[in-house]
Amino acid sequence: MLRFDEDIRGAAVAGLALREGFPADLPSGRVSDPVADGSKESFRRIRVEDKRIINGNTDVNQLVPFKYKWAWEKYLSACANHWMPQEINMSRDIALWKDPQGLTDDERRIIKRNLGFFVTADSLAANNIVLGTYRHISAPECRQYLLRQAFEEAIHTHAYQYIVESLGLDEGEVFNAYQEISSIREKDEFLIPFIDVLTDPAFKTGTPEADQKLLRSLIVFACVMEGLFFYVGFTQILAMGRQNKMTGAAEQYQYILRDESMHCNFGIDLINQIKLENPHLWTQEFREEIQALMKKAVELEYRYAEDTMPRGVLGLNAPMFKEYLRYIANRRSQQIGIDVIYAGATNPFPWMSEMIDLKKERNFFETRVIEYQTGGALSWD
Ligand SMILES: [Fe+2]
Ligand SMILES: [Fe+2]
Repeated sequence: MLRFDEDIRGAAVAGLALREGFPADLPSGRVSDPVADGSKESFRRIRVEDKRIINGNTDVNQLVPFKYKWAWEKYLSACANHWMPQEINMSRDIALWKDPQGLTDDERRIIKRNLGFFVTADSLAANNIVLGTYRHISAPECRQYLLRQAFEEAIHTHAYQYIVESLGLDEGEVFNAYQEISSIREKDEFLIPFIDVLTDPAFKTGTPEADQKLLRSLIVFACVMEGLFFYVGFTQILAMGRQNKMTGAAEQYQYILRDESMHCNFGIDLINQIKLENPHLWTQEFREEIQALMKKAVELEYRYAEDTMPRGVLGLNAPMFKEYLRYIANRRSQQIGIDVIYAGATNPFPWMSEMIDLKKERNFFETRVIEYQTGGALSWD
């Protein structure tokens, strides 16, 4: 137990973990700086300019002074967008699913394959944050957002499970799809090595090689997983909602899309800030490697599009998604400062942008009556 007369730095070194996740011999707001007050062990308040996204040595327990205001603002926006799956009425979906004439076989295939990917994808995302990314990030305002993001991933897993349960789908079939359906398994097999890097208990940042590994995994997570691998599935279910089918599920997906879009943007801000603070990591070779990963991801997601839509359905077909995925890959590349890969690719689904930007002033699919934005200014009058 820490006594008040004990040397606090000594206590931190002994494992009180004021800077948990970092080597115990680094300072934690307390530095060996004889200048400040003449003593050998002196206290120095945290300075904004000392904060770093990775390999920082300021105290991770001190949220302020803020340096990365974009992270704090995203945390506030995410909290204001809070929602829970069971608030959404699924009765029309259930009636449609149970009606033998309600949906075509191709539409049912889309729903099952869609849930087959997503029921495990968001658990992967949550584990990646909690067991991996979080401990390697040394800016407390970014950690604050990651805590919120982790909870949102739990809500997303809950939402997919809630849809599976509402429709009475075969849980064994849906939850094992990532093992049994090759177009889903291939996407997960692509992602898992990049997650494993960060969740390996022996992995530590602090060398150019390790820092590049972290950056590579962050790019794969934000730009490929959340920024690309979700988009065939989101577009399919939202297209269904636009045709007045599975409107409860579509509404859940719409809220998930809004959350994921913020996760992706946060990840991109994080990546760009790490680049700014560590320009030596952003080599030509590294950028080419990222481009190759993007290309591979587009191929895998396209294969998933073909598998889920063997024929045209809902006014959609696989070739439309080839163009869409190229457009998204270009956008993600530009957002992190990489040359576009597919010159001239255009967006065949401009309505998807409206879905992402929707402020939820009204309920798009009219499946629920309560308003979403729960955040508001406190008034003391
Ligand atoms: Fe998610
Ligand atoms: Fe996410």
